[in-house]
Amino acid sequence: MECKVFQNRIAPFFLWFLIIFTIFLIFSTYSSDPFSHGPKDKLSQQNQSSLSPAWPPAQPPLMPLPMALQIEEECDMFNGRWVKEPRGSPYTNESCRTLPVLKNCGKYGKEDGYIYWRWKPDGCDIPRFDPKIFLAIVRGKKLAFIGDSLARNHMESLLCLLSQAESPINVYKDPQDKFRTWEFPSHNFTLMVMWTEFLVFGTERMINGTGSNNFDIHLDRINKAWADQISSLNYIIISSSNWFFRKNYLYENGNLIGCVNCNEGNLTQFSIGFAVQRVFRTALKYISSCEECKKDLVTLVRTYSPSHFEHGHWFTGGYCNRSHPLDEREVDIFGGMSWELRKIQFEELGRMTEDGKNNKKFKILDVTKAMLMRVDGHPGSYWPAKRNVNDCLHWCLPGPIDMWSDLLLKALRKD
Ligand SMILES: *[C@@H]1O[C@H](CO)[C@@H](O)[C@H](O)[C@H]1NC(C)=O
Ligand SMILES: *[C@@H]1O[C@H](CO)[C@@H](O)[C@H](O)[C@H]1NC(C)=O
Ligand SMILES: *[C@@H]1O[C@H](CO)[C@@H](O)[C@H](O)[C@H]1NC(C)=O
Ligand SMILES: *[C@@H]1O[C@H](CO)[C@@H](O)[C@H](O)[C@H]1NC(C)=O
Ligand SMILES: *[C@@H]1O[C@H](CO)[C@@H](O)[C@H](O)[C@H]1NC(C)=O
Ligand SMILES: *[C@@H]1O[C@H](CO)[C@@H](O)[C@H](O)[C@H]1NC(C)=O
Repeated sequence: MECKVFQNRIAPFFLWFLIIFTIFLIFSTYSSDPFSHGPKDKLSQQNQSSLSPAWPPAQPPLMPLPMALQIEEECDMFNGRWVKEPRGSPYTNESCRTLPVLKNCGKYGKEDGYIYWRWKPDGCDIPRFDPKIFLAIVRGKKLAFIGDSLARNHMESLLCLLSQAESPINVYKDPQDKFRTWEFPSHNFTLMVMWTEFLVFGTERMINGTGSNNFDIHLDRINKAWADQISSLNYIIISSSNWFFRKNYLYENGNLIGCVNCNEGNLTQFSIGFAVQRVFRTALKYISSCEECKKDLVTLVRTYSPSHFEHGHWFTGGYCNRSHPLDEREVDIFGGMSWELRKIQFEELGRMTEDGKNNKKFKILDVTKAMLMRVDGHPGSYWPAKRNVNDCLHWCLPGPIDMWSDLLLKALRKD
């Protein structure tokens, strides 16, 4: 890793050296000046491969430079590793008064080792989250998290981070606590969360009056509960995926087209990825063609957040009691469902940004790889659970999910 950083810093200098050297070489080759033969002879004795792996004498010498500079400036925030952070989190379960009890892992006895890590992108550092800077950027703006309980988890984390600079006031909460609005009055900043399991319209199938945990999902019908509320927003952070892992029925044009995670002889079986692809397409299209929306609306797609159940799942004894982040080599990053869903989200986002018709901004908050390594950051058994159920899906607060707001701040700064 250190070596990569070194290369990134050194590469441009070295390329400059090569360019000057090449110009000198060309000059000396075609010059009749007798002095010019010195360096040329020296070069022919030298092993060229030892000069630089990027030494291609046949290539035009000026080509590599812009690329090298780009690498230097555009650090890839999403590739990196978790390194020790002795300072821990910017907040604690004492200093964040809005910290929900379900995420207060410390209170339920979880060893706090998982707090002392920070995400280190290859080739650069993320500055420690500064709530004052964040609030200065979003002054007079409205930001909404749209999605399921992981979207809520992110909002709760951001609330804790921001509350270190100003105490938020909860100004709205619907009866089911699916929609909430917080104000930061001295920054005139509004933070909202809007609940939607699927982004599109879906209803639970009832069996004899009780919920069956299976849903009818209309892939091409936007969920109006959130969609009708976006016209005043400046920022949207949109996510979804986890609810597609149950048995669900899919509709297009009002017609049942098949199901996911099902085994019903007469129904076409679709993959989770197919359903996720379609709902992101529907949601992003809706946002991009929203005429009442603000001109400066920025939409960020937060990529898939993986769970870490081992030896079972929610209700089959699954647990997650590891005490360290995994090393990149210990995770099958590219082989699993997480990466596939992330890829689909990237593709659908790409479709929007390539679509020249709209000038709304779309960005990505790519958290999947970083979170795949954080087996240690879930509540597990350290939460007020009914029965013996472990939560290996949501993230403790403070905890690794706080990093999502570092990436968010970085993304907002660029606008
Ligand atoms: C020169 O390069 C060749 C192959 O590229 C390598 O086998 C050889 O060891 C190198 N010699 C020196 C002195 O570096
Ligand atoms: C905060 O977490 C610590 C353990 O890290 C725990 O002892 C304490 O009770 C918690 N405080 C609150 C207010 O939840
Ligand atoms: C707060 O921001 C809104 C725009 O979102 C603006 O219309 C309003 O005037 C601002 N209020 C104050 C007190 O600055
Ligand atoms: C629904 O109730 C009926 C009558 O009480 C019963 O026969 C049937 O098995 C129930 N169906 C399910 C899926 O529980
Ligand atoms: C599939 O079969 C079930 C049970 O046999 C039936 O209730 C359902 O209507 C069938 N669905 C379709 C689309 O034919
Ligand atoms: C995790 O839990 C399992 C099952 O209870 C146990 O066998 C294992 O030793 C635990 N590992 C750690 C690191 O605590």
